[in-house]
Amino acid sequence: MRKIFVLIAVLAITACSNNNQKSADNEMDRFISELMGKMTIQEKIGQLNLVTPGGGILTGSVVSTDVESKIKAGNVGGIFGFYGPDKLRQAQKMAVEETRLGIPMIFGADVIHGYKTTVPIPLGLSFSWDLELIEKTAQMAAKEATADGIFWNFSPMVDVSRDPRWGRISEGSGEDPFLGSEIAKAMVKGYQQNDLKAPHTMMATVKHFALYGAPEAGRDYNTVDMSRMKMFNEYMPPFKAAIDAGVGCVMTSFNDVDGIPASGNRWLLTELLRGQWEFDGFVVSDYTSINEMIDHGMGDLQAVSAMALNAGLDMDMVGEGFLTTLEKSLNEGKVTEEAINLACRRVLEAKYKLGLFDDPYRYFDDARPAKDILSAENREIARMAAAHSMVLLKNTNQMLPLKKSGNIALIGPLANDKNNMLGTWAPTGDPQLSVPILEGMKSVAGENVKIVYAKGANISDDPVFAAKINVFGPRIEIDERSAEAMLKEAVNVAKSADVVVAVVGEASEMSGESASRSDITIPESQKKLVRALAATGKPLVLVIMSGRPLAIPEENELADAILFTGHPGVEAGNAIADVVFGETNPSGKLTVTFPRNVGQVPIYYAMRKTGRPQADDVFTKFRSNYLDVENSPLFPFGFGLSYTNFEYANLAVSKQTFSSGDEIEVSVDVSNTGNFDGEEVVQLYVRDVVASVTRPLKELKGFKKIFIKKGETETVTFNLSANDLAFYHQDLQFYAEPGEFMVFVGGNSDAPLSGKFELK
Ligand code: BGC
Repeated sequence: MRKIFVLIAVLAITACSNNNQKSADNEMDRFISELMGKMTIQEKIGQLNLVTPGGGILTGSVVSTDVESKIKAGNVGGIFGFYGPDKLRQAQKMAVEETRLGIPMIFGADVIHGYKTTVPIPLGLSFSWDLELIEKTAQMAAKEATADGIFWNFSPMVDVSRDPRWGRISEGSGEDPFLGSEIAKAMVKGYQQNDLKAPHTMMATVKHFALYGAPEAGRDYNTVDMSRMKMFNEYMPPFKAAIDAGVGCVMTSFNDVDGIPASGNRWLLTELLRGQWEFDGFVVSDYTSINEMIDHGMGDLQAVSAMALNAGLDMDMVGEGFLTTLEKSLNEGKVTEEAINLACRRVLEAKYKLGLFDDPYRYFDDARPAKDILSAENREIARMAAAHSMVLLKNTNQMLPLKKSGNIALIGPLANDKNNMLGTWAPTGDPQLSVPILEGMKSVAGENVKIVYAKGANISDDPVFAAKINVFGPRIEIDERSAEAMLKEAVNVAKSADVVVAVVGEASEMSGESASRSDITIPESQKKLVRALAATGKPLVLVIMSGRPLAIPEENELADAILFTGHPGVEAGNAIADVVFGETNPSGKLTVTFPRNVGQVPIYYAMRKTGRPQADDVFTKFRSNYLDVENSPLFPFGFGLSYTNFEYANLAVSKQTFSSGDEIEVSVDVSNTGNFDGEEVVQLYVRDVVASVTRPLKELKGFKKIFIKKGETETVTFNLSANDLAFYHQDLQFYAEPGEFMVFVGGNSDAPLSGKFELK
């Protein structure tokens, strides 16, 4: 009886909130229809124009000009890359007070991994597998950005990527669609908090729609080509997840999708996004991506602009193709007034949802920046996020954590550096606020440790390469001393220490946009340093920093311990020291496979089954393998060690068979058998044994990050339904096929424990 009452109450509340939603939507529709009734065609087109006055990082060759006069003429719908309540208030005033209809502008920015309190690069943060933590960092970023007047974010970037040559692998959450979807949801929730009008939340943009993470040869902006089945099963899920989580905006990608550039692809932007997925926000182009369709060979500016509008793209970033050609296209019958109206309505709806028509100045509070930005509390979150994102790749003889006594040689071009700690795509951060590793190590180690520093090598010795990296400021600084002199000094310092900690890897702009590499090793100057340090015979800890997986088989041989940190953000030095000295027990796990060499790329755990599988990672003639390298990666997806040890036992599946509509429970006992309390990411993978199409060897279908005290055992359970076993078929229908499945549970994708069940 009570249950029925509760059910009725829940239904009543749901119906009531649905009604409230409907009447809010009706109210919005009425308001916008009335406003649009007063707008001229040119004013409507003006709403579709997004400009950047420069100042932040320019990501294309063009920057908007005459911004002030364009705003006053009603030719600007929004601005990005321009910060601070005072400046933005002045800009907003021009729109509100000096245009005919006073329509407020929307202000955006790339707040990719923290606003000023920079957290690890997104790939690094994904290594935490900690959804609550990720949501919290997004929430913090929204609070800081809105304090500075920014309420529209060009994040999350959810492009799945299996190609570490591609520099933007640093900006996403790695190779897996399931994990990527969970992270996408957490970030949208963190930014938007289900309340776009609140002063501390911002509208999120999911990008780059779509398939941008799979460019041929790993070269940025290059062509993409893949089957629809692969697209839907492997690359689209995080976008769908962000949309289901209510993301306000979608940004198109630079690449083509099935032969048609994304920004002009009607199938992508209208049939799929709005039709099948019911997305009701607006679509913005990427930086001049409409104009770039000219180079894709789609016609002149007028033609590509009409193509983009007709495809369902609403706002033109920087290129001004909409602004300068749509009216002509309308007169020539190449676009319809309805299409312009629809795009304009979607942009106005976003402004309405953000509360700008109630108060266009709602985000410009001069008192907020000092209070909300870079607070001690935020820096603490950044430090914790960084320490929980690091991955311990090797730890022979429990080399780490280091004791807080004795002599440490701290060596390497990234060991006492501020310029590279934030990582790529941190245009709102200030590298000079970051904590260098030397400083963090000294403060965490305390007085009983003597730390002697030597640079040892340049990040790269090549001035031509350095010039390509230093576009946003000095990232690679080539020392006045010779490479030999630096190396000699480092070796001497190492010889007089008890242990050597060498910090090597990539400068921040060696990954990110337009930063593809055909060689994913550590630059030669630093390889020499690692070899020389190893040759001293001193225990060697490598701290490796980079924005992508690196091929490090040699370093893996030479080092006793390896900690992979990504680019950790503003609290880099403190967070690394926390892990190195054991204040934080590392719990990060890779979200992308680390290859042995670049020739193995693309390499990922969920590869589809072949007809000639190789056994036991040993070369066999006429099997699918290489003559010169194993098939296995250097480190698999999901891998990461802890200072303690976790053992898995007793995998149990609740039923032998189950049917759709039902659930099955998979449980496992995880014991902490080492000497430290610690966190473990328990991962569950599924294999579809027989299906009508070739299926991946295994797929991640669940994970839980849990804390286990030393000596204790926890039972971890997962529930699976038929929906978790479903996939897109050739006809793009999504369903599970009855039959046998295998389930694997463990601490990485090579999980040895397995079980079986059958779906009826
Ligand atoms: C990038 C986007 C970014 C935009 C605006 C482009 O070059 O691809 O990710 O949001 O610039 O800065």
